[in-house]
Amino acid sequence: MTNILVTGGAGYIGSHACKALKAAGYTPVTYDNLSTGWQEAVKFGPFEQGDLTDRARLDQIFAAYQPVAVMHFAALSQVGESMREPGLYWHNNVAGSLNLLQAAVQAGCKNFVFSSTCATYGDQDNVILDETSAQHPINAYGASKRAIEDMLRDFEVAYDLRHVIFRYFNVAGCDPAGEVGEFHQPETHLIPLMLDAIEGKRDALTIFGTDYDTPDGTCIRDYVHVCDLVDAHIHGLKWLEDDKGSRVFNLGTGAGFSVREVIDQSAAITNRPVPVVEGPRRPGDCTKLVSGSTRAEAELAWRPVRSSLDQMIADAWRWHQTGHYEK
Ligand code: UFG
Repeated sequence: MTNILVTGGAGYIGSHACKALKAAGYTPVTYDNLSTGWQEAVKFGPFEQGDLTDRARLDQIFAAYQPVAVMHFAALSQVGESMREPGLYWHNNVAGSLNLLQAAVQAGCKNFVFSSTCATYGDQDNVILDETSAQHPINAYGASKRAIEDMLRDFEVAYDLRHVIFRYFNVAGCDPAGEVGEFHQPETHLIPLMLDAIEGKRDALTIFGTDYDTPDGTCIRDYVHVCDLVDAHIHGLKWLEDDKGSRVFNLGTGAGFSVREVIDQSAAITNRPVPVVEGPRRPGDCTKLVSGSTRAEAELAWRPVRSSLDQMIADAWRWHQTGHYEK
């Protein structure tokens, strides 16, 4: 079997990627420090606990498993936290990724799939966000991801480390079979927080800002189903295996929904009211992030099939009522 090193394989997106990798015939080797992930979510291949900043441990893992590629999900990923504690993001995300890249190069592992973000684009009014758009992140999370993208480009030139960079828009939904799901502690994402509010697990959902320059005053995002997202990663891996060179792809559907639209849709899907309160803007939030690219469809033959807002909310709702992990 072909080993793929999956950093962050115990997390939300990483665990779904492991499931997809196994289904595609690979062995996903999860490397995760369990700071935000769950050992229980590692179900599809070996688990190795470790930190990105621990170079000796990384060297040991590369030697033991000889992975043909790395899928790098492990990262701190909260926009709000990154504004309060940027040093955490530069240390964990940037310095940690540098360690990982150096370990990969030393081990002769030449293929790298990287989990980047539309947060690298920042707030750009009336600009169609495609892979050639300028990157002006407005939060430390986006800045840390942009720095890693730069690092990857330099490592390709110097060491022929090939990369596929995926810039995710807002990832939502979960495995329809319920084997893995989305469970963050603390939770900061819109859809799971809203489902908590619907279930009475929290008093209300706070809408962060109602005075944005959008039709209903709330932020607009492009939501993509996690199963579609990880499917793109399998295509990305094959792209590298076929020696097609390094490439960047946006992963979004091109449809934007406001916070209020997501709330209304969730009320309709669950058939329950969503208790909401209106609050101030959250620092670091962009007004609108919607993908304007079809490159992944055109070049990777990627087809999102579960990414309607209804389907994402329905899948999240099913998991939400039954699934959770425990330390
Ligand atoms: N929101 C609320 N109330 C909440 C939580 C979120 O109104 O309690 C709003 C946010 O202000 C934002 C939208 O819902 O407008 C989505 O927020 P999320 O926290 O769910 O997602 P973000 O857009 O902040 O961040 C996510 C990922 C990042 C990624 C980013 C790109 O967490 O990794 O999408 O937009 F970079």
